[in-house]
Amino acid sequence: MVVAEIKITMPPNGRPTIILGANGMLGHAFQVVSPQALFFTKEVDITDEEGMRSLFRRFHPSLVINAAAYTDVDGCEENRDHAFLVNGEAPGYIASACLETGATLVHFSTDYIFGGEKEGYIESDHPHPINIYGRSKLIGEERIRETFDDYRIVRTSWLFGPDGRNFVDTMLRLSHEQESVRVVDDQVGRPTYTRDLAAKALLLPREAPGIYHVTNEGTCTWFEFARQIIPNVVPCTSDEIHRKAKRPRCSVLLNTKTSPLRHWKEALAEYLTLRGRELQER
Ligand SMILES: NC(=O)c1ccc[n+]([C@@H]2O[C@H](COP(=O)([O-])OP(=O)(O)OC[C@H]3O[C@@H](n4cnc5c(N)ncnc54)[C@H](OP(=O)(O)O)[C@@H]3O)[C@@H](O)[C@H]2O)c1
Repeated sequence: MVVAEIKITMPPNGRPTIILGANGMLGHAFQVVSPQALFFTKEVDITDEEGMRSLFRRFHPSLVINAAAYTDVDGCEENRDHAFLVNGEAPGYIASACLETGATLVHFSTDYIFGGEKEGYIESDHPHPINIYGRSKLIGEERIRETFDDYRIVRTSWLFGPDGRNFVDTMLRLSHEQESVRVVDDQVGRPTYTRDLAAKALLLPREAPGIYHVTNEGTCTWFEFARQIIPNVVPCTSDEIHRKAKRPRCSVLLNTKTSPLRHWKEALAEYLTLRGRELQER
């Protein structure tokens, strides 16, 4: 196993935090909010069960944060086996290695484990995924829960932030390339800023083990989200946009267990300012 170590700074007590999936959008946010952690990119493959064990034996982490996943929602429909392995089975391997080394696990799941038939979902609501991505992520939750107790499963939604493929950047690009940009106005959810989510996730080990819904506050459709980013956006329906995976009509995650994050509009304004500054500096 190749260990791609971005930074190695062992804390004084010798038990570091390990971040898996460090090159993803959320992984990058942890590099900002927890720079002293040990970061591992995809070269450390979470589907390598023995590799996970030896990594944890080597570093003996007190906390493991799994930000690695196969997140291409339409791609999952065609690459089912891969989706079930990365999103479904691998979290179980990580949980098992955590159990062996006495580490707490923070793992990320998704609003797409729900089917969209309600107006909002609390942590104890019954999951009913309608696409392969959602099914594979739900299996990941189940594997962790079957393996041990010291987990915080963080369900989140509609992520945006620096260093990743995200809706905000796509809208800004399309707004320049096209006269008008069509965006669906019949799917409701909660946009969430990766840096807000990462900062909150670091605090969750202080809370009781279990499932948490963590998103920015406020609810909108993708069209309403886009309207805050670009002027030349027009609404359309999901039926007009052909995608391989079905999306839930409503995937609003209601947080009943921990203090709320700020409103998504405030977080978006911060991200747009940051992005503007970075573009100016180039
Ligand atoms: N993005 C969203 O809107 C959203 C919404 C709800 C929940 N979530 C959840 O939030 C978490 C973070 O999402 P994100 O948007 O940051 O995803 P992301 O940008 O796609 O990052 C995931 C990272 O995991 C890596 N990876 C894939 N397979 C791996 C493997 N076998 N071993 C190790 N690393 C692997 C990916 O590498 P490659 O890119 O090179 O494959 C990528 O760097 C995920 O659990 C996701 O399900 C995301």
